[in-house]
Amino acid sequence: MAEQRTSIHGQWSSRLMFIMAATGSAVGLGNIWKFPYITGENGGGAFVLVYLACIALVGIPIMMSEVLIGRRGRQSPINTMRTLAYEESRHGFWQIVGWGGVVAGFLIISYYSVIAGWALAYVFRAASGMFIGVTGDSAGSMFSHLVADPERLLAWHTIFMVMTTVVVARGVHSGLEKAVQYLMPMLFLLLLVLVGYAMTTGSFEQGLRFLFEPDFSAITAGGVLLAMGQAFFTLSLGMGAIMMYGSYLPKEASIAKTSIIIAGLDTLVALLAGMAIFPIVFANGLEAGEGPGLIFQTLPIAFGQMKGGVLFATLFFVLLVVAAWTSGISLLEPAVAWLVENRGWQRVRGATVVGVVGWALGIITIMSFSGWAFSFEFAGKTKSNGLFDMLDILTASIMLPLGGLAMAVFAGYFMSRESTVDELGMGDRFSYKLWRFVARYITPVAVILVFLHAIGVV
Ligand code: PHE
Repeated sequence: MAEQRTSIHGQWSSRLMFIMAATGSAVGLGNIWKFPYITGENGGGAFVLVYLACIALVGIPIMMSEVLIGRRGRQSPINTMRTLAYEESRHGFWQIVGWGGVVAGFLIISYYSVIAGWALAYVFRAASGMFIGVTGDSAGSMFSHLVADPERLLAWHTIFMVMTTVVVARGVHSGLEKAVQYLMPMLFLLLLVLVGYAMTTGSFEQGLRFLFEPDFSAITAGGVLLAMGQAFFTLSLGMGAIMMYGSYLPKEASIAKTSIIIAGLDTLVALLAGMAIFPIVFANGLEAGEGPGLIFQTLPIAFGQMKGGVLFATLFFVLLVVAAWTSGISLLEPAVAWLVENRGWQRVRGATVVGVVGWALGIITIMSFSGWAFSFEFAGKTKSNGLFDMLDILTASIMLPLGGLAMAVFAGYFMSRESTVDELGMGDRFSYKLWRFVARYITPVAVILVFLHAIGVV
């Protein structure tokens, strides 16, 4: 019976540990690198508003569904979906959700690791004082030089992939916990320092207005899809990472409370990053719609001007790498857990194979910034890093929302009321009814409407 099932991979030592691990998965490049740059590309305020609505109406209910499925199944997402479908007398086809997640995980880690490699490269640039006196122009050329050099990118990508694989091989319980416990609060403090600097630029108000004053003429149907995709991406939803972490969650922990805490922290970090970056953009006459290089072209200017900038900058990029690391780990975990369960492999072997596949796929992204670059139009914007942009749109805006939709539908319609009442542990109270209503009606309708809107049907 579900009640007695335990995970063969272990369990978090407490609810707090789960919150930290899941927050570690959620907070990453998505918050600090991606949120500002796609907000900038999609005109600011209105985009942010849609994103926030998606976090609340779609993200939190799906996170609850994903965690509850994971904790009930207590296995890798593929086997969890198969087991629960069987127990609820549903078709075994539901395990496709787990398979889709594994594929999405490979695709995402392949570009995620390349971007994390940029952050690694910037640790050394920061430490060697290269940001001192940097201007908008010189920061721009520093960035273009890096991404135009595939060999250098390959080296950093390789280092990040090895770091990630090593932790996954050792098991997520050891090591990861400490990293999240001390380093995430430090990252948070440094973001506050940056926001403090942003206040001195003279463009703080303009930055805030850009972020929070909705101008609906600036956003397209494609932009709405991107905002929803970002909500999934930033919360690590729809591919099984959160399901996997949920499978290690002790039975007593409240799923609703933890989900709200994780989503709240994640959103806070993204908004702080935006509040730090846009004032710098406006104060230095830069473009908000600069693209994937945005933070790498703006933050060095800030660090280059502030007192103690070398230290702060070095620390900031180290912590950004750590944040990316704790997210990267969760991208690989579902595939590795499946290899351990179904093939009887040792974790080391599973992690190595998975890491090598993700690493090889990374070459696509590396080349998208130089030799293989091409442009296409999406959401009314020119995307100039062809295959990378396509991978990003395919995973964040299509695969994750589809995966999340399937999880909400499974938990809301295909699991019995008894199972979900039991797992959410809040009895049959109002809060349970609210979750079930949202998971059954609001979430699926919202996701489907956004899709239909993006392809021009509604
Ligand atoms: N949430 C992570 C971030 O914001 C990325 C991620 C997506 C991690 C999907 C796991 C699964 O950086």
